[in-house]
Amino acid sequence: MKHSSSHSSSCLPFLLTTTTPIFLLLLSLICPAAATWRTPTHHQHGRNPNKPCKQLVLYYHDILFHGNGDQGNATSAAAANATKLGDYKFGMLVVFDDPVTKDGHLKSKAVARAQGFYFYDMKSTYNAWFAYTLVFNSTEHKGTINIMGADMMSEKTRDLSVVGGTGDFFMARGIATFRTDTFQGDNYFRLEMDIKLYDCYKY
Ligand SMILES: *[C@@H]1O[C@H](CO)[C@@H](O)[C@H](O)[C@H]1NC(C)=O
Ligand SMILES: *[C@@H]1O[C@H](CO)[C@@H](O)[C@H](O)[C@H]1NC(C)=O
Ligand SMILES: *[C@@H]1O[C@H](CO)[C@@H](O)[C@H](O)[C@H]1NC(C)=O
Repeated sequence: MKHSSSHSSSCLPFLLTTTTPIFLLLLSLICPAAATWRTPTHHQHGRNPNKPCKQLVLYYHDILFHGNGDQGNATSAAAANATKLGDYKFGMLVVFDDPVTKDGHLKSKAVARAQGFYFYDMKSTYNAWFAYTLVFNSTEHKGTINIMGADMMSEKTRDLSVVGGTGDFFMARGIATFRTDTFQGDNYFRLEMDIKLYDCYKY
């Protein structure tokens, strides 16, 4: 960290003032980090912002544990309580191991688990920040998709980032669009997750 920041600060003035090819060549010799910064060498395959290389529509079911005999069907629990800052559960952290289905029925066969957490992080409205892994272990899919981002619950749809994946979803990246399918107070909610991958190594 320390090394790279001192490195880039010493190279930056060159970058701003040099544009001719010979200077860039010299620059790449004395300042290799700047050279890779300027040259997009990454693979470009499957990258079309208008056309996902893979799409999955899945439903996430969350039943919050209340400690009143719901051990059997609860899938998430508050690990930290809300604070008294504002009226929107600021600070409450929920850890979940939720079933994920292909349709909107809680009792349908789970095709994956959603494992991770969300916490409320706005004083002025309900906003949850999610970070979780979709774990697939079926004949259809094996592997994981990692998703994180803000869930502004008052919006009709919310886009979260697909930041990576493993197995069938090796190095996947894209967008997971949330839509609240049902919301039953503190007991149960269901999200539709429309997952579009724009970076795929496996099709
Ligand atoms: C979970 O179980 C409890 C206790 O049986 C029940 O009252 C509740 O409705 C169940 N919740 C769901 C979402 O099925
Ligand atoms: C949260 O608050 C409730 C009620 O005030 C309490 O019973 C519970 O133990 C608290 N849970 C945690 C994780 O602090
Ligand atoms: C995946 O499923 C197989 C077969 O049911 C099981 O043996 C294995 O332990 C599972 N792996 C995980 C990570 O759940």
